[in-house]
Amino acid sequence: MSFSTGLTRLLRIQHPIIQAGMAGGATTPRLVAAVSEAGGLGTLGAAYMTPEAIREAIGEVRVLTNRPFAVNLFVPEPFDASLYDPGEVNAPLAVYREELGIEAPEGLSYVQPFEDQLAVVLEERVPVFSFTFGVPEAEHLSALKEAGTVLVGTATTVREALVLEAGGVDAVVGQGSEAGGHRGTFIGGFEEALVGTIALVPQLADSVSVPVVASGGIMDGRGLAAALLLGAEGVQMGTAFLPCPECGIHEKYKEAVLAAESESTALTRAFSGKPARGIRNRFMDEMRDREVPEYPVQNAYTRDIRAAAAREDRIELMSLWAGQAARLGRVVPAAELVERVVREAARLSGR
Ligand SMILES: Cc1cc2nc3c(=O)[nH]c(=O)nc-3n(C[C@H](O)[C@H](O)[C@H](O)COP(=O)(O)O)c2cc1C
Repeated sequence: MSFSTGLTRLLRIQHPIIQAGMAGGATTPRLVAAVSEAGGLGTLGAAYMTPEAIREAIGEVRVLTNRPFAVNLFVPEPFDASLYDPGEVNAPLAVYREELGIEAPEGLSYVQPFEDQLAVVLEERVPVFSFTFGVPEAEHLSALKEAGTVLVGTATTVREALVLEAGGVDAVVGQGSEAGGHRGTFIGGFEEALVGTIALVPQLADSVSVPVVASGGIMDGRGLAAALLLGAEGVQMGTAFLPCPECGIHEKYKEAVLAAESESTALTRAFSGKPARGIRNRFMDEMRDREVPEYPVQNAYTRDIRAAAAREDRIELMSLWAGQAARLGRVVPAAELVERVVREAARLSGR
């Protein structure tokens, strides 16, 4: 049983299912390899990893599978941390640090060096490179292409998809507004780019000639079947993989995903400075009306709080990225999830 599409042929995979790269520890090498071994495409969410850690994780994936997999990074955006007064940024965070018994850190690390991260992807000849938040420089993309790496960009609008296609990507992930995690929007304001998956996918399919991957709110075979009917050649699922035993997130975060209601998530800039969808919690609610620095500055300022909260099982202060369909999550091994989604979609499509 399989759905052969332009995407499966491009990525050399059996099933048109991509497990989203999810930065922050969710996408362990075990998860990535399990999805790829099951015939989908596992993705290492490597944006917050040092180049050395990325190389090591790629090695671990390769011990577990010799099938294609992807590495995902954030395209860097210009930022100026000196625009923000540390005293002002830390003021609303003090109450959380006090509760957690931690001090504001002295020096902050904002981002990992993108060019060095990319160099690892290139040197390791990673089969698929996916990215979000923009388009990498042309010289980087052509070097990856020459190395035989398939390029997958993220779009939240038709305008962005056309820019990605002109930049030479091999496939476009259409990220609907239902999606968990950060908005990939890189042209214009994010509020204007909150297009739902069901509206976005056919518009992308009509506009670009490369395969379109539907993403946002897809949790089971109904989502896969619907996405294919809408003109997508595959799906990218993030939240659906969070409850899997191979996923590296905190157990309490997994519980929160499974306990979510249809209206449990919201978009917030409070944790990182960039709009992202997560399960509403105390930190999001209390910080809602605060002015916070742009990404990645706020992300660096809240890192110690999120880490200490995780150590103490305090999910009310952790970022719980998840999509609007979280309650459809199932606690099954990743390979079984891939198989079930394919089986369900096949049944619905009369295969
Ligand atoms: C916990 C989490 C972390 C994410 N991190 C990334 C990331 O590092 N890079 C990326 O391109 N997308 C990331 N995303 C977004 C996914 O690529 C995708 O758009 C989203 O998961 C699709 O919606 P769904 O969660 O409803 O499946 C993340 C999503 C989640 C839930």
